[in-house]
Amino acid sequence: MTMNPFDGAHAPYVDLNSLATAYGTPLYVYSADGFIASYQGFAASLSALDSHIHFAVKANSALGVLQVLAKQGAGADIVSYGEMKRAMMAGIPPEKIVFSGVGKTDAELASALTDGIGQINAESSAEIDHIMRIAEQLDVIAPVCLRVNVNVDPKSHAKISTGQRSTKFGIPVDDGQAKILYKAICQNPHIKPMGLAVHIGSQLTELEPFETAYLELLGLADRLRADGYDVPGLDLGGGLGIDYATNQPVDFASYGRLVTRIFSNRGYRLGFEPGRSIAADNGVLLTKTIFVKDGGDKRFVIVDAAMNDLLRPTLYEAYHTIDCLSPRDPHPLPADIVGPVCETGDYLGLGRTLPDVQEGDILVVRSAGAYGAVMMSNYNTRPEAAEILLDGDKVHVLRPRRTLDELLALEHLPL
Ligand SMILES: Cc1ncc(COP(=O)(O)O)c(C=O)c1O
Repeated sequence: MTMNPFDGAHAPYVDLNSLATAYGTPLYVYSADGFIASYQGFAASLSALDSHIHFAVKANSALGVLQVLAKQGAGADIVSYGEMKRAMMAGIPPEKIVFSGVGKTDAELASALTDGIGQINAESSAEIDHIMRIAEQLDVIAPVCLRVNVNVDPKSHAKISTGQRSTKFGIPVDDGQAKILYKAICQNPHIKPMGLAVHIGSQLTELEPFETAYLELLGLADRLRADGYDVPGLDLGGGLGIDYATNQPVDFASYGRLVTRIFSNRGYRLGFEPGRSIAADNGVLLTKTIFVKDGGDKRFVIVDAAMNDLLRPTLYEAYHTIDCLSPRDPHPLPADIVGPVCETGDYLGLGRTLPDVQEGDILVVRSAGAYGAVMMSNYNTRPEAAEILLDGDKVHVLRPRRTLDELLALEHLPL
């Protein structure tokens, strides 16, 4: 199992207080060693299979992080041409890139095909029509995989569940659409059929929904093959969850055993799109306490990171472990850790047991390496947190904090 590099119980020990002082707060800190260990852990769990890993860039798209993964041989799963550009800048070759998402524009499809994208996961009949037309105009062969909807509840948060028929994702299997469309793409001279894809959601903490979805996918693929159609690959998506509450390492091995049991010796080339399971535990958000306010039966610990820096708590009611880095006495009252943004929803944690935090103390928000920095905004005209990468004893600034002048530079006064 891979260790959480920021959990003080494990090596390497990281002096987060000094980093906060040196680089300012709020600050995202990533561990290159951690990313490598997680990537290798995921890959090792699938070593018995013909598998190809495409890191879900949406989880953490920092160029420096992508470069670390590129050097490990990772491909990329992208959901916009912007992410494709990032992946290629970081050294991931276009043929190792998979383009997911329900709303790819013609311009994005054309750019991706011109660059030589490895696979487009199409999600609707309309999208397939557009791909066919664009491929014909460009006189290229588009590598197309069908993302199917197998109507499986991933048992995750509603906003990150994608497996049910009620969601916008994938082409339904149960009414026969997926089969009809797959046969159609096999007959088009401008399309190279790549197979079928499934991704039922994110932060899955049970394996059973994966199993149900994978068996549905396999059933459809086998039926298509029995009808004489070429189904070279199956893309099994991402979704493997992490333990935000206890920060225990991700159990890649159990997931790998499940996939191996279902797919070994079936003759399919397998693709994977992990994001959170590779990134989450390998990043933390550091934030400084501005004030501590008496709230009667609780305290408000007001910090300099806010919902614009880490949206997950308020968007998904997500829990992140938060610790104070200064040794302080215990405090009897619970604490809400809140930011300066003028919204009641601006919080990082509610009702937490924290010691007697003082002004200036640094708090560490754990498991913030996935769906953290990528969702930052400038709400309340707040420059985004900076991002740094620890690489052995070196510290790389991946993205400095913008100054207010830089933040406002593209705007115009109309009068
Ligand atoms: C198509 C697709 N693939 C992969 C992922 C990555 O999922 P996760 O970060 O849960 O591994 C997502 C995110 O939801 C996705 O939409």
